[in-house]
Amino acid sequence: MNQLKSFASDNNSPAHDKVLRAMTEVNKGDAIAYGDDIHTLEAERRFREIFGKDISVFLMLTGTGANVAALAHITRPYHAIICSDKSHLENDECAAPEKVTGCKLIRIPSSDGKIRKEQIEPLLKSKGFQHHAQPKVISITQSTELGTVYQPDEIREIARFANENDLYLHMDGARIANAAAGLDCTLAETSKFSGVDVLSFGGTKNGAVNAEALVFFNRELAREFEYTRKQSMQLTSKMRYVSAQFNALFYGDLWLENARHANKMARLLAGRLRDIEDIRITQNVEANAVFATMPPQAIEILQRQYFFYIWDKERNEVRWMTSFNTTEKDIDDFVSAIRISLEKIS
Ligand SMILES: Cc1ncc(COP(=O)(O)O)c(C=O)c1O
Repeated sequence: MNQLKSFASDNNSPAHDKVLRAMTEVNKGDAIAYGDDIHTLEAERRFREIFGKDISVFLMLTGTGANVAALAHITRPYHAIICSDKSHLENDECAAPEKVTGCKLIRIPSSDGKIRKEQIEPLLKSKGFQHHAQPKVISITQSTELGTVYQPDEIREIARFANENDLYLHMDGARIANAAAGLDCTLAETSKFSGVDVLSFGGTKNGAVNAEALVFFNRELAREFEYTRKQSMQLTSKMRYVSAQFNALFYGDLWLENARHANKMARLLAGRLRDIEDIRITQNVEANAVFATMPPQAIEILQRQYFFYIWDKERNEVRWMTSFNTTEKDIDDFVSAIRISLEKIS
């Protein structure tokens, strides 16, 4: 098993050297705890530089924590949260959204990770009916769990619909950097300017150790969020180390360099696979993930060498993810291993 190189997830990659160095640099002497230190003020300033002064930002520790705390803060337990059936909220948060918010999650079937206004519309018929959970939030993921990316127009359409129907729009931006890099737009264009109310902003998959944030564009919703953050156990005392990670990612647009590189490696991988007969790429490669089907016996052989996830066992569909530290040689080696695994079963 090649433990060093995995195509399983950008969560498996290390932290970027510059991020670790930044953490070491702030590791000097005492600093005021719980976010009143100069490094956190600097990180907040940088968030305002990116998204504008009219935001409220809170640094968080985990993506799940950011999603759940945001949703808990803007809902009441009789509400419903609308999301894709492929969403992290629905599949990978151990029902924390339901447990903590008390809300019902309404999953919309999605073949590409995105949800669309036409699918949400029929769900609103329960609005105002006291026997039904009341839709209050639409949550979308950017980039999606299937490695696709919402175009700004697609988000705007959902945002307009949300606005017209007294719903909030939450964006799980665990990989917003990859989305912005893929779209060649700014972070604000794919979130704030597209009408998102609250954004879970991800740093961890982009080269941080544990740095996530909640950015409220609808500041009304941020009122008293500091108490929710504390109750959600996401307020870390040694905040300077989280802030230092963001400061490193924002400095010189390291976040963009990392995301562009990860996306480029995914495109390279997909490009190399396109002429292999037994491989079929199943999703558009718009961020840093490649989804493909291949014969199950070849998957088994490949998994002896590389760690990655089988996404859909029935369809023999796998997910391969790239990261800021994936190299062209990693891709070459991986594609060779794929070819060998296919030769072995032919
Ligand atoms: C789309 C998405 N959202 C949120 C998260 C949550 O991250 P964490 O593992 O930090 O809770 C992940 C993690 O992989 C993710 O892929």
